[in-house]
Amino acid sequence: MTVTAADARTTRLVVSRRKEGDDPGALRYDTFDVAVGPRTTILDALVAIRRELDPTLTFRHSCFHASCGTCGMRVDGREGLACVTPVPTGDEVVVEPLGNLPVVSDLVVDMDVFYDDFDDAGRPLVRSSEKIPGAAKAEGIDQLERYEDCIECGICLSVCPVAGSDPRYVGPAALAAAWRVVEEPRGLDPGPVVRLMDDEQAAWRCHLAWECTEACPSGVDPAAAIMRLRRSAAAARARRLFSFGGTR
Ligand code: SF4
Ligand code: FES
Repeated sequence: MTVTAADARTTRLVVSRRKEGDDPGALRYDTFDVAVGPRTTILDALVAIRRELDPTLTFRHSCFHASCGTCGMRVDGREGLACVTPVPTGDEVVVEPLGNLPVVSDLVVDMDVFYDDFDDAGRPLVRSSEKIPGAAKAEGIDQLERYEDCIECGICLSVCPVAGSDPRYVGPAALAAAWRVVEEPRGLDPGPVVRLMDDEQAAWRCHLAWECTEACPSGVDPAAAIMRLRRSAAAARARRLFSFGGTR
């Protein structure tokens, strides 16, 4: 992003610096003064830092337009996609990695915890994406997967107070994916998914903070999905009771 002299101002980015294995309590921040304009995003500013001030600063990005989900981080304590988060107008802004996920390096978190949640949910609605005949897969990729509107940014996990206190919780994104099986089964049997999510560490663990829905940059609305999943689980239980004559 080009910053013209007419609209330039200087903002100080206070950036979390940590490497895997560092003592989580030993916080370290580096400061960088960056020329920004009214349309400069946090990702633009980070790219400028790496290019001009510190090539060792690490962060993830790919698409630059809120599509790939790789640039999730916290800006002044609020989760968002760095590529569409404007640099705030104040003199200083604090940039930190997502929460509830282990830090690999600086602003890069280990997403294994996020994807493990999908394993806990039985990998619902994980459909190999429509394969283009003859297209070569990138090395190391066995199959391409997407979870509907979810761009797999991990922001909902970062904001979730339950995920922050209980790592066994299945988590908002995986539960939202489970709900999609019920909402639109497309030939799948939703019964096993509903039974799997009818668990105290799954649909019933959510405390209704609705932080995930508020923060999700892709309109997934995980909190509403979890509530609907609960209704489905309760209805399935009632059907089982009825069909077994009240003995379960
Ligand atoms: S549900 Fe929303 S916030 Fe959570 S991973 Fe998917 S896109 Fe990101
Ligand atoms: S760089 Fe792809 S979502 Fe931000």
